Order: sequence, then C-alpha cells, then structure tokens
Amino acid sequence: MPKEVSLEKIVSLAKRRGFIFPGSEIYGGLSGTWDYGPLGVLLKQKLIDWWRDYFVHQRSDMLMVDSSILMNSRVWRASGHTETFTDPLVECQNCHNRFRADKIDLSICPNCSKKNTFGEARNFNLMFQTLIGPNSIQDQSLEIDKNKLLDLINHQSSDLLKFNLNDFSSLVNPSLVYLRPETAQGIFTNFKNIIDSIYPDIPFGLAQYGKAFRNEISPRDFIFRSREFEQLEIEYFVRPQEWQKHFDQWVVFIQDWYQLIGLNQKSIHLLEVPKGDLAHYSKRTIDFEYDFPIGKEELSGLAYRTDFDLKNIVNFSNKNIEYRDKKTNESFIPHVIEPSFGVERMIMAILTEAYTEEVMEDQSSRVVLRLAKQLAPIKVVVSPLLKNNQPLVDKAFLLFKSLKKELKFVLYDDNGNIGKRYRRADEIGTPYCVTIDFQSLEDDTVTVRDRDTTSQERVSINQLIEYLNQ
Ligand code: GAP
Repeated sequence: MPKEVSLEKIVSLAKRRGFIFPGSEIYGGLSGTWDYGPLGVLLKQKLIDWWRDYFVHQRSDMLMVDSSILMNSRVWRASGHTETFTDPLVECQNCHNRFRADKIDLSICPNCSKKNTFGEARNFNLMFQTLIGPNSIQDQSLEIDKNKLLDLINHQSSDLLKFNLNDFSSLVNPSLVYLRPETAQGIFTNFKNIIDSIYPDIPFGLAQYGKAFRNEISPRDFIFRSREFEQLEIEYFVRPQEWQKHFDQWVVFIQDWYQLIGLNQKSIHLLEVPKGDLAHYSKRTIDFEYDFPIGKEELSGLAYRTDFDLKNIVNFSNKNIEYRDKKTNESFIPHVIEPSFGVERMIMAILTEAYTEEVMEDQSSRVVLRLAKQLAPIKVVVSPLLKNNQPLVDKAFLLFKSLKKELKFVLYDDNGNIGKRYRRADEIGTPYCVTIDFQSLEDDTVTVRDRDTTSQERVSINQLIEYLNQ
C-alpha cells in the first residue's frame, strides 16, 4: 500500500529545511543535478556510515576500496558499457524533443501532442565523456585522423566495423575518458591487487561507495533519476558452484537492512527481473522495489554477475587474475553476487516513510519526520523557555555547549515561542527537545520532549547524556 504523501510535499520540505536543493539553481538549474544542504549532508553521511557498519564492519568477510572516478577507457570496453549501456531514444519529427522510448506512449508526442511522429528508436549511450590531459583540446591532427578513419568505415567493410562509435572515438582520441556509470568496475579492476596484497579467504566481498554519472535521457522525479548520484556497491566473490546459496543469503540480509533503517516491510517488493530485461552482465537479478510517491519503483538491485567481469578483464588485459585456494591449491575465477544501492533512492524512500502529517490534541497540526533516530540529522535541540531572560539563556547555552561536545548533532534554538520550536524540530526529525525553564534554575533538571509521542519528562542534567543515549 503506497504511503499517502505527494512528492511535492517531500521536495518542498527538503528545500525549505535545507536538506536538498536543485543543482545550480541560481543560474536556472542544471537538469538531473541536486545539491545537499546542511541537514541533507548529515542525513546522507549517517546513512552511508550505517551502511558501512552493517555491510562491512560488522561482518568478517568484507573489505573496502575507494577507486578513481576517471578510469582507463578500456575498462568500459571490457565491461561492455561502451557497447550496451544504452537506453532507446526517439525524436519527435515535429517539435524535435527527444524522449526515452520505453518511458512514453509512442502514439503521441508528450510535448507537442502530434500523433505518429516518432521514427525508429536508436541506442543512446548513457556514459558522460570528457577529455584528459594537456593534449585533450580538440587537437587538429587527431581530427584529421578521425575523419580518415570514418571514411574508412563508411567505404570499406573492415574489422573496424565491429567497434561502435564510442570504442572508435577512444581509439582515435586517446584522451577520451568516461565518468564512471557504476562504481562496480573500480572494484573489479582492483581484484588482482586485493588478492595479491591481502589474499582474503573466499567467499569475500569488496565494498565501495562514491559518485556515479549517467547521462539520463529524462532525469525526473526529484532525486530518483539523477545524472549525478551516489552508489553503495558490493561485489561478493564466491566459488562458482555456491552462487545460489550466497544469493539467497544476500536477499535476507538486504531485507533486514531495509527494516533496520525504518522502511515498512509491506512497502518493499521483490521483483524477479525477467530474463529478457536483465542487464548485459547478469544471469539473475532481484530488484528491491519500494512504494515511492511516484509508484512502485526500483530502490536497489541484487545481481548474479557470474564471472562476466573478471573474465572480460582477463581477455582485455592478458593478466592472470585467478584466485588460488590456500588449502586445496585449486585455481579458478570466482563468480560474483552484487548488492547495489543508490543513496538518492534510499534517501527518497526514507523521507517518504518518515513524512507524517498529524492533527494534535489541541487541533493544531504538525509535520513530523519519523526518521530512525540513528539517521536524524540533529539529535537534540536545546532551548531556553524565554529568550529574553538572561539566567535561562545562560544556563541553556552552557548546556548546549556541553551536549554538543558529547553528542555533536545538537542545535541551539531560541526563535519564536516554545511551540514553534517544537514544530521546527519535528519537521527535521529531531528526536528530542530539551528546555531550560524556571525550575531548572532551582533544581538542575530540564524537560525532555519526545518527537514521536510529544510527551515530556523531567530529567536531571547530570543524567541527561545517559538518558539521550539510551
Ligand atoms: N553496478 C550495478 C548497477 O549499477 P543499476 O541497477 O544500474 O546497477 C544500481 O544501479 C542502483 O543505483 C539502482 O538500484 C539505483 O538505486 C541507483 N541508480 C541507478 N541509476 C540512478 C539514477 N539515474 N539516479 C539515481 N539513482 C540511480
């Protein structure tokens, strides 16, 4: 059952309260890019920290790598991305707008409404290109070579024809590189380095998080489909005959993760991706779908990549990257299970799940983000009951400073009346509000108000940190 919250409300809250802003907004924006504000940075960082803890540090079979975004373009030829990482693109013959063919009704143009206006779809490669090094600026001699070679391709059937245009331009222009469209390849290309330097026992996993870039034809739905986004990926290397067992274990481990970060189990759906829709590297994929405000859509994926990537690296590099079992001395190329997460989609799911509008007992209403406490950007807001009473202000500020040292994510707020401060704290998901009032001056206690129940408790300042940490 989809949560009844509109995407507009989430986008509006995200902007109003400094979570997420449209990229380059002051210059009219840049489609498919988003910037994180102060609270968004904290939410994202806490999510990544938690992911790393759960998927890496709490297990004994996981290691991390952090590879470059820019990689030798042979990486993408070997992985099949220059050839097959495409979406079908159609152009309206009337208004010349371009669309992703599998996302629109092709009988009528969504822009100008003209009927039967689309020609054949062509494959549009989603990788961003850039040029590397001081020789990269449109070198004339390279341009001439390129033309000669194009001529060759047009007039002769030669071996060159087996390259597509992306392969071809990187041959002609050695400065051409791609912004990585998945972090996964930075793991595969380091596989040999890891087994040579660390020599882990199989099964083992390598995890990496970082930016990925895709020149999406139609970026849309807030951060759901962006051109620049962050991935959290694991390549889990197993004995070929054991892939099924490990795949099944990962399904459960991922389901537990979503429960842990506060997503309703009923809103998560497992989709066995039909054979015809599998990515070029996968023999089996389960998509974890979530009931987003835009409908049921992919949140993350779990793929069985076989030995596709490692074998391609062997073919393209001529290096031996077999794994040798320490006990049996047997050598083989491992198979790979890949749990792959997108930070933006997880954040969108978390905000959807947490966003709640409530009518209070006194008939006033509030918006509250019921975030898992571990994800709340601000853990505690400290306030004096009255802003213009010096003893209250002094004591509140002293308490704020000492809590900040211990708990870090603490905010001081003395704007407006206490009710307004609670509403502001609720809206950004702050679990606790601590207020210094007149009784505090007498007995060193404070009121602690709980975000979810709105109930208040009197707690001694001496025991406050322990109470908040519980
Ligand atoms: N290495 C495997 C891989 O990249 P994918 O299904 O193409 O698989 C994995 O991407 C995850 O990355 C997706 O499940 C999604 O969470 C996220 N993702 C992919 N494209 C995205 C985009 N344009 N914007 C935001 N997140 C995206």
